Amino acid sequence: MLKLNQLTKRYATGDLALKAVDVEIPKGQVVALIGPSGAGKSTLIRCINRLVEPTSGGVDLNGKELTKLGSGALRQARRRMGMIFQEYALVERLTVMENVLSGRLGYVGFWRSFLRRYPQSAVDEAFRLLERVGLDHMADKRADELSGGQRQRVGIARALIQDPELLLVDEPTASLDPKTSRQIMRLICELCAERDLAAIINIHDVALAQMFVQRVIGLRFGEVVYDGPPNELTPDTLTQIYGEEDWEATIEKVDEEEVVTPEEGAVA
Ligand SMILES: Nc1ncnc2c1ncn2[C@@H]1O[C@H](COP(=O)(O)OP(=O)(O)OP(=O)(O)O)[C@@H](O)[C@H]1O
Ligand SMILES: [Mg+2]
Repeated sequence: MLKLNQLTKRYATGDLALKAVDVEIPKGQVVALIGPSGAGKSTLIRCINRLVEPTSGGVDLNGKELTKLGSGALRQARRRMGMIFQEYALVERLTVMENVLSGRLGYVGFWRSFLRRYPQSAVDEAFRLLERVGLDHMADKRADELSGGQRQRVGIARALIQDPELLLVDEPTASLDPKTSRQIMRLICELCAERDLAAIINIHDVALAQMFVQRVIGLRFGEVVYDGPPNELTPDTLTQIYGEEDWEATIEKVDEEEVVTPEEGAVA
């Protein structure tokens, strides 16, 4: 269980990016965080693993208050939070396998990964994960030889090899074509279901979020303005989140896209 308690962030510039956000996310729940640019979505995700230091409020993950941890304990806690980024953040010159294995070291330890000091059990687990994300045949390929969809699969495997208690995902599909985006969202959500893993996914594509998640949280100006099931998002609530626009088309698009064909599970 993740509990955000009055989580507030004011940047040094004076920007109040999060205003006393209260959110509880139970184990196994996948939440899409939507909202206009600048709403505070990335800030929220980064305050959880303290890539950004919250100004006030609490972040409780499975009974541990993360905002109070010293640097050593924070490093330990971060290893249990898998992070997946839009820009993939792979080490270009390393192979797919090495990139996945680097997840074992948390956010530091590049040199240990460079020297390839991994126990056999970690290598076996990396193979299993690569198989699961559909990339076992590419273990020896260099990261810079992969497509965007393949790179994101590596990022997912790398996050999962950390054996995370929580996945933090920032715009995983922003650089991908629509079909690959769906495959990646489906993969993330399936993996969370398999592992009873909670996730927060920042996403701009509302229709895509609605197709795969159980819960949508809408942020605007650093405040939660919607929190509920995806099918209860109406043009009015979208206006509350994003401001005035014609939202009918977005909602219709979801209805059309609900029919998903099996071959779409194939690897991009
Ligand atoms: N490092 C920073 N220093 C100062 N202000 C920042 C910093 N990062 C973000 N902000 C401000 O905080 C607010 C929230 O930004 P954030 O990046 O969290 O939004 P977002 O919802 O992720 O937007 P986007 O959809 O464009 O990624 C914005 O007003 C932004 O300008
Ligand atoms: Mg962002």
